This record gives sequence, structure tokens and C-alpha cells, in this order.
Amino acid sequence: MPRQFFVGGNFKMNPASLEQKRSLVKVLNDAEIDSATEVVIAPPSLYLLPLKESLRKEIQVAAQNCYCKVSGAFTGEISPAQLADAGVPYVILGHSERRTLFHEKSELVALKTKAALEGHLKVILCVGETLEEREAGKTAEVVKSQLRAVVSELKESDWSNIVIAYEPVWAIGTGKVATSAQAQEAHADIRAFLKEAVSPAVSESTRIIYGGSVTAANCKELSTRPDVDGFLVGGASLKPEFVDIINAKK
Ligand code: G3P
Repeated sequence: MPRQFFVGGNFKMNPASLEQKRSLVKVLNDAEIDSATEVVIAPPSLYLLPLKESLRKEIQVAAQNCYCKVSGAFTGEISPAQLADAGVPYVILGHSERRTLFHEKSELVALKTKAALEGHLKVILCVGETLEEREAGKTAEVVKSQLRAVVSELKESDWSNIVIAYEPVWAIGTGKVATSAQAQEAHADIRAFLKEAVSPAVSESTRIIYGGSVTAANCKELSTRPDVDGFLVGGASLKPEFVDIINAKK
């Protein structure tokens, strides 16, 4: 069965103002978008519910993080169960900025993924290597290690609610997009790992999307690769060109 193309927009800690958010919503609500593509945008937490209410119904929202517990004395954290209760369907977990700036280890990402799935959220699970790791030829080793931590916490059926985002750290926010060959190689390695570590069915059905300096100019070439099932877009998701990326397969 073909995998549905998936485009996510990670706003990170942008836009700075409610007005900027409103203009982004207008662009998305007025745009002609490919109905065959699943579209999810991840605004800062404060904007999740207003955005969910003002966006066209075909576009879903995602939180950019959540904790690994359902409730309790965890000041500043967001519960997966509370996100689901608020009607938020997705959460991004393991983003490289959480791993580097906030020191999230793969074991914590795995516990968060398990808690999110138990809380009936779908997960955009981010993995990726640093430039140093790539230059040392360790890309596959690093990505498999990040995934192995999650595999050890989940059962096979959990994977139907996971989209994997391969985001090479050296391509995030740098303008240095991976070549489509580099993306294809990493995605194929991930798919091969899933086949061996989980099952052939999960390997075949799991969407593996690419993130890291995706733009309207490079998305079509990337989308031609067999194991590239979509994108997780940062900077360009805040611009009108995000519509072109959503329509990359059109
Ligand atoms: O999560 C997507 C993000 O990390 C990619 O950022 O600005 O390189 O598209 P950007």
C-alpha cells in the first residue's frame, strides 16, 4: 500500500507575534493544497489551540514536545494526555534542538514516545547525525542507536502512529540541504533497520520524512526518491513557499 505523503511545518519558537500567526493561517487557509498530502503544523504551545480553531480542517496541529508522564509535579512540562484531551493529534519528539540544547538523551525520547502513544497522540520522531558524526562515517550507527532506544520501549502496533523524521543536524537552519542521494541513503538505512528490528510490515508502512533546509526550490527533487515520504520543514514553513512544499508531489 503506498505511503501517504506527509509534510510537517515546525514553527519552533516563531512567529513572534499573534499577527504573524494570523497571516500564516490566512495563507494556508486560502491556498490550493494537495488533498493527497497529510499536512501538520507545529506552532509554539501557546498558539496550538487558537491555530487549531482557525485552520482549515484538512490541516492538523502538533505540539513540539511533551513530557514522559501523564500528570504530576513537573513544572513547565506538557502532558501527552492533556494534549490529546485538547484535541491535539500529533507531537514532535526527539528534535535535535531538544537533544543538543536541552540535553535530551535517546532513552528519554523513547519514554516520551511511549507516553505519547499511550496518551493516544501520534508521534513525529526525529533522528539525525551531527556533521562530525557524518564526517566520521557514523550516520547509520547514530541513527540506529537513536531508533533502537525507541524500539525497546514499543510494541509492533505502536509504529502505525509514528512518522520518522530524518533530520541531519548539519542541514538544520544552515541552508545546506542534504542531496537527494544522501537523504535516500539515510532513509533506506532506516527502513532496513525497521525491517530487522521491528518487522517487514512496519518497515514498508512507516513514513520516513526528511528535514533540514527544505525549500520550494529543493523539495521536488527530494520528493522523487523512493524512501522520502515527505518533509519536516522549519524556516520555510513560516513563508508562503510552504504551500509549494506541501504540493511537492503534485
Ligand atoms: O524540524 C524541522 C527543522 O529542524 C528544519 O529546520 O529551518 O532547516 O527547515 P529548517
